[in-house]
Amino acid sequence: MLHRWMPWSTAAALAVLVVAAAARAEAPKGPPAMKADARPERKPEALVEAEAPPFSEGIYPCSACHESMEKNATRRELGFHDEQQSVFAHGTPDRWCLDCHDLQNRDVLRLASGATVPFTESYRLCGQCHGDKYRDWRAGIHGKRIGHWDGQKTYFLCVNCHNPHSPRFKGVQEVVADGKKTVAPTLTFIKPEPRPVRPEEQRR
Ligand code: HEC
Ligand code: HEC
Ligand code: HEC
Ligand code: HEC
Repeated sequence: MLHRWMPWSTAAALAVLVVAAAARAEAPKGPPAMKADARPERKPEALVEAEAPPFSEGIYPCSACHESMEKNATRRELGFHDEQQSVFAHGTPDRWCLDCHDLQNRDVLRLASGATVPFTESYRLCGQCHGDKYRDWRAGIHGKRIGHWDGQKTYFLCVNCHNPHSPRFKGVQEVVADGKKTVAPTLTFIKPEPRPVRPEEQRR
């Protein structure tokens, strides 16, 4: 029985193929993109910036105070901004506030070239002194991206993980900025969770 049934199925398959080929030959020619064997064109990954951590209340715009203040570029002990001064540990003693903040317009950051960048593009500031990390970050090696594996991704900015005034990584916490969930660097080291209890320790 089996040997007689086999050729039959082969013949049937051939017939289907012939019919399909005829149908294809008759089908009107579509645009090349419609070809069945053409791969869909790969769209570049959509990358979305995470919200930067929120400013402390009442501190931005900085110009609210600074516009009317006398501009003083001398490195000194400040009578204000204790929060930044008390933790400041970023390339000290060589680096200081005005390596990053602009003296003339306090609402923007300042690059070594003298060009200014908005706070939303602070990674350009970091990138000029940490070129290796910046390149890795752009390539998705350093830092973190969340989202779809083959679609839109949100990537964290340097300042989502590193406090610019005390940049050594200590951990991050969830915060809300502009109504969206994001992360902000913590200033005290997050302790690792205690290890799970081993089975032998559970025995009485
Ligand atoms: C390495 C660059 C860098 C240096 C040096 C630096 N800052 Fe900043 N600072 C930043 C960046 C970037 C931000 C914005 C961070 C963000 O988007 O969350 C910021 C934010 C701030 C803020 C707003 C903080 C808040 O709570 O919202 C203040 C105030 C400030 N800096 C003051 C200072 C003072 C004072 C000094 C010097 C003691 C200083 N900064 C040194 C880069 C720097
Ligand atoms: C409530 C007023 C106020 C606001 C808002 C404010 N500052 Fe200041 N800031 C001061 C005062 C006062 C000093 C000077 C302290 C001193 O000379 O002892 C100062 C000094 C500084 C300095 C040292 C250099 C300089 O110009 O004297 C930096 C850098 C600085 N502020 C950054 C910022 C940034 C960045 C912001 C916004 C994110 C900001 N400040 C917002 C009051 C303010
Ligand atoms: C003007 C140059 C300059 C800029 C701009 C700058 N850094 Fe740095 N950064 C330094 C120097 C110098 C060190 C100290 C390197 C060392 O000690 O080996 C450092 C150290 C660090 C470290 C390591 C800290 C540690 O203790 O391990 C981190 C993280 C860091 N920076 C992040 C940032 C981020 C994020 C920004 C942007 C907000 C930034 N840096 C902008 C010069 C800079
Ligand atoms: C998702 C969080 C995250 C983001 C975003 C991120 N970093 Fe880091 N970074 C880390 C962690 C974690 C370490 C390792 C800390 C350690 O080893 O203790 C680190 C280490 C570093 C160091 C120190 C490396 C060393 O050799 O000691 C530098 C400098 C640095 N980052 C710069 C940057 C810059 C610049 C950006 C943005 C272009 C950035 N980071 C973005 C988490 C982040």
